[in-house]
Amino acid sequence: MQTDNPDIQFRAATKADMPEVAKLFKLSRESELPYLPKLHTPEEDVAFFSVVVFGEQDVYLLEESERLLGFVAYDKNWVHHLYLHPKELGKGYGSKLLKLALQNASILHLWAFQKNTRAIEFYKKHGFIVIKESDGSENEEKEPDVLMEWRGAWR
Ligand SMILES: CC(C)(COP(=O)(O)OP(=O)(O)OC[C@H]1O[C@@H](n2cnc3c(N)ncnc32)[C@H](O)[C@@H]1OP(=O)(O)O)[C@@H](O)C(=O)NCCC(=O)NCCS
Repeated sequence: MQTDNPDIQFRAATKADMPEVAKLFKLSRESELPYLPKLHTPEEDVAFFSVVVFGEQDVYLLEESERLLGFVAYDKNWVHHLYLHPKELGKGYGSKLLKLALQNASILHLWAFQKNTRAIEFYKKHGFIVIKESDGSENEEKEPDVLMEWRGAWR
């Protein structure tokens, strides 16, 4: 899949991409969500990505000349992960990756931490609305979050 810049390309991830994707996930969270507790070692992240993310979800990468800019992981009803390299925020790449998840969906949900106002604003811009607020007692970070929903008919 191409973008308007021929050096920037989407592609479906393969298992071989998994360590690099897990590394970007950690880098992006530590840079942009620094208030989250550090619960997992890099090895545990790799195990989670191997079994859950690459095992159960569709993972697409955005690359510039084979350098990883960001990724999205989703399934029929959930956007599970959308993370960019910290130097690549605010350039429209998040929108391009999110559109992959939206294009064949009729209803999508995702969780975002309440402190992540940038992401919440970003998702609202793409038609998601907050349908539930939680105090974080049910997520492993124990950080208040919001459940957001998108319905194709609202486009
Ligand atoms: C959230 C994220 C995926 C958005 O991708 P992005 O490429 O930065 O966003 P885009 O450039 O495609 O979209 C821009 C929109 O984001 C929002 N945004 C961009 N910069 C912002 C800022 N500094 N503060 C608040 N909102 C901002 C605005 O709604 C903006 O819309 P506009 O361009 O019309 O003003 C990206 O910032 C990211 O990877 N953040 C760190 C990881 C993360 O929080 N992931 C989400 C977990 S739920």
